[in-house]
Amino acid sequence: MTLNLSLSIDGQSRGTLAVQLRNAFRTQIEEGALRPGTRVPSSRQLAADLGVSRSVVVEAYEQLCAEGYLVSQHGSGTSVAAAARADVASALTPDDHTPAPAVCDLRTGSPHDSTFPRQDWIRAVSAVVTSAGRRELGYAPPSGLPVVRHTLAGYLGRVRGVRTRPERLMVTSGFAQGLALLCRVLRDRGHDTLGVEDPGHPGEWEFVAEAGLRPVGIPVDSDGIRVDALAASGVRAVLVTPASQFPTGVTLTARRRAQLVAWAKEVDGYVIEDDFDAALVAPAHRLPAVQSLAPDRVVYAGSASKVLTPALRLGWLAIPADLTAPVERIRASWDIGCSGLEQLAFARLIDTGAFDRHLRRLGADVQKRRQAVRDFVAGHLPDVTLLGANGGLQAYLLLPARCAEEAVVHAARRRSVLVRGGRFYALRPDDRPPALVLGYAGVRGPELGRGLAGIAAAYRETTGRA
Ligand SMILES: Cc1ncc(COP(=O)(O)O)c(C=O)c1O
Repeated sequence: MTLNLSLSIDGQSRGTLAVQLRNAFRTQIEEGALRPGTRVPSSRQLAADLGVSRSVVVEAYEQLCAEGYLVSQHGSGTSVAAAARADVASALTPDDHTPAPAVCDLRTGSPHDSTFPRQDWIRAVSAVVTSAGRRELGYAPPSGLPVVRHTLAGYLGRVRGVRTRPERLMVTSGFAQGLALLCRVLRDRGHDTLGVEDPGHPGEWEFVAEAGLRPVGIPVDSDGIRVDALAASGVRAVLVTPASQFPTGVTLTARRRAQLVAWAKEVDGYVIEDDFDAALVAPAHRLPAVQSLAPDRVVYAGSASKVLTPALRLGWLAIPADLTAPVERIRASWDIGCSGLEQLAFARLIDTGAFDRHLRRLGADVQKRRQAVRDFVAGHLPDVTLLGANGGLQAYLLLPARCAEEAVVHAARRRSVLVRGGRFYALRPDDRPPALVLGYAGVRGPELGRGLAGIAAAYRETTGRA
């Protein structure tokens, strides 16, 4: 075993050779260059590497073991001790014996780890891996395995009314990759801007800007994106979340949908429909995808992130005919497609009905949490308006105009409840009413109750209301 020990042992230096060697090891261990568990060379080998007598190394190792930096085990040699850098580690990770502060995290983000259908997924992966032959274990086509795109086309038609064909579908590494691909194609077609909803998703704006398009904020009201403002903006492509606008949760009304596709035809442009959490919209409020109104103008985009887990990095695009080849060409030069085995496992989940069953369970669970938030607002925050109470995994609370949003956020934080103000989601932060956005995907039952109680107390403290 070789060790990249940058030791400067020389006979002129102060201290014996064994002390110099010991100090060199200590420094490397304390600075983290030698990690806990790393095996060090045998005394014979290190002595030979350094050109010193073996007794020098033995003495240094014995001292380091006595000090707890190294551990020596009969038969498995000498290695860096697990607790050798306890002083450094304790600054980075909480000590197990210190009770953690009771934090309730109501910021929007990942779903709770308890909602992923682990057993269903294990069964699907197991079946796929067991039966995988030469083809399944080879390279999948960049756009996705034909059999998976076939399943997806049927599924999207059935549950979202999407009008597409397997050849127009592409499996992507999450919506993020789909968006990056579309931005690139739009740029190649002469677009330099992309309309985005305001409020919206700041991470997506960064993504769009990184892909070379300037995000242009289009205001949203209680009917969804304002198509009159979109038309006035001069953009020719727009990214929207019609099923449940992020973060307000409002559903784009049927009238606005018709206006949106009419606008796209008028400007010879495109709508990117981010349908990432449509399956979690209350069934009575769920409209078919906008794509079903104009498959040649709307790129439909879905994702497994909210309905399964973002860890899969699985998304899909249904692409208009004239954009399919350009998107495929760019994709083929990026990454040669997603994991074929995971695509197959996902398709199996759909084909066996396990995905539908999971969505029903998840939908019922989300509904319960939504109801808890509705009851909380009605009972504790009577002068606050709750937007989009039927969709999304977050609640958008419009605060009274005079209420200082940041003060409520800070007062909640003092109670160990983490929440974001509307400012975080606004492209033009000053031009909007104060708001709070409560993400309820990552917390459950009693924790949600505790978080809401903290918000109510923070609101009372800030506004002086009893
Ligand atoms: C607005 C919005 N769109 C789409 C997604 C899904 O993105 P991805 O599939 O890249 O995880 C998310 C996050 O889950 C989101 O917040």
